[in-house]
Formats: sequence, structure tokens, C-alpha cells
Amino acid sequence: MNKAVRKAIIAGNWKMNKTPAEATQLIGEILAANEGKDVSGCEVIACVPYVDIDAAVKAAAGSFIKIGAENCHWAKSGAFTGEISADMLVACGVEYVIIGHSERRQYFGETDLTVNQRVKAALEAGLKVILCVGELLEQREQGITAEIIAMQTKIDLLDITAEQMANIIIAYEPVWAIGTGKTATADQAEEVCAHIRATLATLYGEAVAEATTIQYGGSMNAKNAAELLGKTNVDGGLIGGAALKAADFSAIISAAQA
Ligand code: 13P
Repeated sequence: MNKAVRKAIIAGNWKMNKTPAEATQLIGEILAANEGKDVSGCEVIACVPYVDIDAAVKAAAGSFIKIGAENCHWAKSGAFTGEISADMLVACGVEYVIIGHSERRQYFGETDLTVNQRVKAALEAGLKVILCVGELLEQREQGITAEIIAMQTKIDLLDITAEQMANIIIAYEPVWAIGTGKTATADQAEEVCAHIRATLATLYGEAVAEATTIQYGGSMNAKNAAELLGKTNVDGGLIGGAALKAADFSAIISAAQA
């Protein structure tokens, strides 16, 4: 992290977990676990399933936890059965949205072009975007991680302006590290996060690149968070499994206070 120039952000991605009642409980537990602690050293977000948004917004009201969604559609409204628009999320009190998570790319046919459309729609609606990029294991083994990451970053951010970058967070999530217990080493995370920043510099210049928060995601947990967050270009975490346990998520929040 380099807090002198950019915000540290710890975000939970709950994926397809928790009912509304369970969401209320988990947020309550996270707040209780942090009571009396100084958590001002990072921003904290819980990205929750659509049906949990109302409960999560109410449970987090007035607290340090901000609420995000896990996806949104690119159209403002229309015949898109089963989809949710960015405007709908804003109307429900959502401030952030994850776009382009590898599980959307892997299981739901998401491409860099649809990711780009969703990013634009989310920004237009006034949401802040957590844009996910990451390489597959085969791509890392083939030695093309840098190319893949640069390509995803460039296509996903097509037509996004330097001003709009103030509302974009990038999450580097190596697909092979998600839910596998296999974390990228701190050096691997740093190398790719630095590469994303260098790519942003070519697109938007040094100032925007330096000001952009770049998170690491992929089996981040209470034990490895401090080492990962200790790297200059790792400005936070996007946390799956460990975000579902109040004690673990709180330990990661504490690690980000340094
Ligand atoms: P895990 O922390 O469970 O590996 O998930 C990471 C992730 O995909 C966050 O978006």
C-alpha cells in the first residue's frame, strides 16, 4: 500500500452466499468485532448478492461499511429477463459494484467487451466500480500473464476517461488463486499490480496511475493479508471465503490499518 497517494480498500465478495437474515447477522458481527477499533486506515466494502442488498444497507447504515453489488447489466432498462440495472442498484443504496469477476467470465460468458459495457453503465449511474482482471493458470504457465492482464485492462477500460478513473478500483485476481487456498506470493501479486499500474500510466498518465487503488484477490486471509498489503502496489484486497467470517474479515481490516 502507498497510502500517501491512494486509498486502501478492503472489500468482501460474498458471491452466492447468505440469505438476507444471514447478511444482517454477518454485518452485525463485523461491526461488533470492530467496535472501538480505529478502522479509518482503509475503506471497507461488502459486496453482497442482489437479494441481500436491502438488509445489508440497513445493517450497515451509519457505519464504516459500504455496500456493493456483484454485477450489473449494461442497459438502463428493458427486456433483459433476470438482469439488474445500475440505476436499480443506486436506488437501493448501493455505492460499489464488482464488474468482470472471473466467475462471471468463466461461467456466464462474460467477455472484455461486455465487461467494458457494464463498466460504462455503472459509472454513468454513479456507482464506483471494482473491475476484476486476472490470468488463468495455463496463461501464467505459458508466460503470457503480462500480455493478458494488459489486454484485459485496456479493453475493459475502453472509452473510460481519466476523470472517470477516480471511480474505478482494479482488482487483480489470478484465477488459479481463487477459492483454491493457493495464494499468489506477495512478490507475484506486487509484480502484476505494478504491471497494471504501468498499463494505466500508458493509458492515462502517471498521476492517474499512481492514484488508482489496485487490490489483490485470491485466497487472501487473516494470515497472509499483512504480507500482501505490505507491498507498495497492493492497495487492498477483494476477499471471498474469508469475508464470510466476521473474525477473519476483521483481521484483514486490521492488517490494512498499518
Ligand atoms: P477467495 O478469497 O475465496 O479465494 O475468492 C477471491 C475472490 O474471488 C474475490 O472476488
